[in-house]
Amino acid sequence: MNIIQQSAAIALLLAPAIAFSAGDAAKGQNKSAVCHACHGPTGVAVQPIYPNIGGQHQDYLIKSIKAFRDGERQNAIMAPMVANLSDADVEDIAAWYASQQGLTEIKDK
Ligand code: HEC
Repeated sequence: MNIIQQSAAIALLLAPAIAFSAGDAAKGQNKSAVCHACHGPTGVAVQPIYPNIGGQHQDYLIKSIKAFRDGERQNAIMAPMVANLSDADVEDIAAWYASQQGLTEIKDK
């Protein structure tokens, strides 16, 4: 293996760790207080009209929250909820909900 192949192999090994480390779930739990009214404290929605977001992939949550914030995905309820979130806030909140059991919690009841 030459040095370039070695570097590429190391980058590949590190990539998932870096992607997964984005966001702090403990901070996200606090920052998600406003979301609890609809999506529940652990992402199991309080009513069926709201989506369950607990246990969802973190990258999907980051992408969809930013899409609402940046106007790519339009929804009159969600847009104002996330309008003032920074990228770090979004990553923390996404880390919190991604770390929850989500639908498995419902199935197990
Ligand atoms: C007043 C109720 C309400 C609150 C509070 C709320 N949401 Fe939502 N959320 C919704 C509704 C309704 C939708 C579905 C929007 C649509 O159909 O596109 C949604 C959709 C979402 C989705 C997309 C789910 C998917 O499967 O694509 C995410 C992620 C999300 N909300 C995150 C949040 C976060 C994070 C917060 C807090 C900062 C929050 N929501 C606060 C009502 C709410």
